[in-house]
Amino acid sequence: MTCSGKQRVVASIGGMTLPTRPIIAPSILAANYAALGEDIAKVDNAGWIHVDIMDGHFVPNLSFGPDVTKAVNGVTDQILDVHLMIEEPEKWVDEYIAAGADCVIFHVEATDNPRALIEALKSKGVRAGFSVKPGTPIEDYLDLVDIADLVLIMSVEPGFGGQKFMPDMLDKVRTVREYIDEKGLPALIEIDGGVGEGTITKAAEAGCDAFVAGSAVFGKDDPHAAVDKLKELATL
Ligand code: DX5
Ligand code: ZN
Repeated sequence: MTCSGKQRVVASIGGMTLPTRPIIAPSILAANYAALGEDIAKVDNAGWIHVDIMDGHFVPNLSFGPDVTKAVNGVTDQILDVHLMIEEPEKWVDEYIAAGADCVIFHVEATDNPRALIEALKSKGVRAGFSVKPGTPIEDYLDLVDIADLVLIMSVEPGFGGQKFMPDMLDKVRTVREYIDEKGLPALIEIDGGVGEGTITKAAEAGCDAFVAGSAVFGKDDPHAAVDKLKELATL
């Protein structure tokens, strides 16, 4: 957290210019947990590291928690993009912020007051993101885009890596892109689930700024080269 390079990049999230676009956010859900530090070091060209937190309630799977997040933060200067797939996220955000999260993303389906949580996160000095599951209409939450730093559109049902990309979710991306552009808002659009060489260009064309990729990075023999390739395919 004290690395000046990291602070500089963090400061630009949600800003009008982001020199590192397109942003690839490798999801460590698909990494080798017995060699997590080594896998993270392989993708030092990404810019962000996506940390998927699953509680076995909001989604039917368990992943890791604040201790692993802290350990990840200790081995990288990249932005930690922490995706909370948990019930009652407001009860846990402080732990993830203390663990080194730079951007905290929660699900609107998991809380009664998403607006208050975005405001709380921003007041705590981290970037605030919200996410919608595939069945959740984005139209119901567009007003949150005014205050959020990031909108995460799920292109699979959250809970597991390696699922098939849902192309219909690109309509949501287009809706948010139009809203952001019309109002001149600084929020970034990120997409998560099934993003890979065959899908990333379409997501970029629909208006995404950031792309989570798990199996399309850590499932490859050369994750570093996979990140470069995804960046190239997302550069329009
Ligand atoms: C799914 C997670 C994703 C997952 C993506 O619930 O939020 O971040 O790791 O994995 P891939 O890229 O393999 O679909
Ligand atoms: Zn995720």
